[in-house]
Amino acid sequence: MGIAIMTSGGDCAGMNPAIKQFVDYCYDRGVQPYFIYDGLEGLIDDAIEPANYTDVAGIMHEGGTMIRSSRSKRFFEYQYRKQAYENLQKHNIDKVVILGGDGSFRALDQFHKDFGINFVGIPSTIDNDIFGTDYCLGVDTALNMIRQATDAVRDTSASFRRACVIETMGRDCGYLALVSAITCGAEVCIIPELQYDLKSLGERLKKELAQGRKYIVCVVAEGTKNTQEIVHWLEEDVGIETRATILGHIQRGGNPTVFDRLMASEFISYAVEYLLSHQKSSAVVVYKACQFEFVSIDYVNSGKYQIKEELLQLAKRLVV
Ligand code: F6P
Repeated sequence: MGIAIMTSGGDCAGMNPAIKQFVDYCYDRGVQPYFIYDGLEGLIDDAIEPANYTDVAGIMHEGGTMIRSSRSKRFFEYQYRKQAYENLQKHNIDKVVILGGDGSFRALDQFHKDFGINFVGIPSTIDNDIFGTDYCLGVDTALNMIRQATDAVRDTSASFRRACVIETMGRDCGYLALVSAITCGAEVCIIPELQYDLKSLGERLKKELAQGRKYIVCVVAEGTKNTQEIVHWLEEDVGIETRATILGHIQRGGNPTVFDRLMASEFISYAVEYLLSHQKSSAVVVYKACQFEFVSIDYVNSGKYQIKEELLQLAKRLVV
């Protein structure tokens, strides 16, 4: 029987190194690896092919996912899951590694309950918002993309004595914005997890500008939906010319960092070993307190990811 890999939901850097490690690792362990192209949609449409060394040559440094991804609504309907199951049977595949977020894990969990296909989920999303793991694949590369963009925007803001508002992705989670604000030396950080006070923030910034501050960097998480409000406040209340940069999908691409390449290799080897040694069980590999471990999908679904308090503390001075 073979093992297949698929990538689902928002892509991230680190997926290609994971795909390469998957193929190499499976061959080392004497198992036939398969690709499921186009995520859950491809599983339904039988976009499944055996994978070879040559398929993954030269992809280590590339962002995105060479087997592509999708967000599938059809997979939540039984008739399409049945079709997907029949496709896997046709290819003699009874185990799947899925790289994605908790929505993708939930979909495969239902698939496991319906047809007994075993899977291991690898948390992969730039949002870093999956309960039970400290780290999701792709986050380090996304943070470095944001750092690079913010450093560049800061250069031009300083030339013009302007404020810049940098909006980061992250869905409802402020992790990317928080870490970026701390590591880029921002003056303001607006995230869903921290209450901010525009009155006291405004007073602080005005005082700093009067004392010679030449520019302001303000990082805002998309989850607050407050980017425009912050721009308006900086211009009208603080009184500084302001430009907004919505970083958007640039954060999802780029060459995977060394850390993401290494994490990809480790996540994959744990996932494949789990599938080879467990006949009838599924799990998610998580990275917790610098250790890899396996947890159930029910556990991943049982809570909401919380940014650790120590990190939030570091940014408290950026909200008042
Ligand atoms: O979940 C990853 C993510 O990039 C979020 O940060 C963002 O809100 C969303 O996906 C964007 O999705 P799409 O690529 O479908 O526009």
